Amino acid sequence: EARSPDDLRCPIVVIMGHVDTGKTKLLDKIRKTNVQEGEAGGITQQIGATFFEKKTLEAQTAKLNVTEKFDFKVPGMLVIDTPGHESFTNLRSRGSSLCDVAILVVDLMHGLEQQTIESLTMLRKRGVPFVIALNKVDRCYAWKTCKDTPIRDALKEQDEGTVSEFRSRATDAKVQLQEQGVNSNIYWEMGEDDWMNSDFVPLIPTSAVTGEGVQDVLMLLCQMAQRKIWKQLMWCANLQCTVLEVKAIDGLGMTVDVLVVNGHLREGDRAVFCTLNGPIVTEIRGLLTPPPSREMRVKSEYIHHKEVKGALGVKVIGNNLEKVMAGTPVMIVGPEDEEEDIKSEVMAD
Ligand code: GTP
Ligand code: MG
Ligand code: NA
Repeated sequence: EARSPDDLRCPIVVIMGHVDTGKTKLLDKIRKTNVQEGEAGGITQQIGATFFEKKTLEAQTAKLNVTEKFDFKVPGMLVIDTPGHESFTNLRSRGSSLCDVAILVVDLMHGLEQQTIESLTMLRKRGVPFVIALNKVDRCYAWKTCKDTPIRDALKEQDEGTVSEFRSRATDAKVQLQEQGVNSNIYWEMGEDDWMNSDFVPLIPTSAVTGEGVQDVLMLLCQMAQRKIWKQLMWCANLQCTVLEVKAIDGLGMTVDVLVVNGHLREGDRAVFCTLNGPIVTEIRGLLTPPPSREMRVKSEYIHHKEVKGALGVKVIGNNLEKVMAGTPVMIVGPEDEEEDIKSEVMAD
């Protein structure tokens, strides 16, 4: 089957890290939404998914790209938000198993914490390339807000004392990472070759509240996608699809949020899902997505699709979905397939 470096799918990016480091807030900044403030206790309790169009990535890196001159080839980016609370290890594990690249968010004021280290372990075990956002840089003493500015420009505006606090905290984080066996450096102090062709992890200071450094994060992720892992991003027609969540939605009944990594899903397809009672076959009656730059776990004006193409997060409507299990694969019974074969295949995974 033909795969081409000119036909890349969207990279799937997972955001991981300790509780309250600012993962959801960072996404809110990029989406221009307020999902975090609507969460119970300000705590994320589910996996989320947000699709960003290429034009959004271009617009949100425009200032930085004046000097970078990066040519965006990825058709967009799908970002998976995960909870940082210690009780959600399973969701972090699922997130890390579904992604191509990751953002590990560290609170610059706190350094490495327990779930930072847990997340690091998961990412390294799976060989996922990642960047580290040293978030809440705006908490450095006397920080002058430079709204939505590339981080180097923002640092140039700061007083010497502020810069030296930032330096000392970044160095602490670097030392703590070294203790975990992770080599890292402030990203503009290393050659691109260092983080492209070695295991050195780039550190990017950010503020999810005032937006400094957020352009830099998006840019580095796209550069990693196109220059480091483009082979695994070559679009492929074979369906690769996983269940993220199963939930009832007013007016729609039980729905299944899935992540389509590769291939297509179409209305009318006969889909095979894993349930607690074994495999079921059900016709896909509807495929819904939130609008671009909107969180799938927040109810919105869904867009109806006849067909979707990976990578994308999609809400599937159909009958008998009540007992579908999160984290399991989804398959389609093709015209030449035996239903029973697909059923045993899906349960074997
Ligand atoms: P969990 O999903 O529950 O693990 O938390 P999270 O990592 O998604 O963090 P969240 O976005 O909920 O932010 C936690 C708190 O930190 C909120 O009160 C945010 O407003 C605050 N916060 C996040 N990022 C920043 C930042 O860059 N600067 C400052 N000053 N506050 C931030
Ligand atoms: Mg969160
Ligand atoms: Na939180």
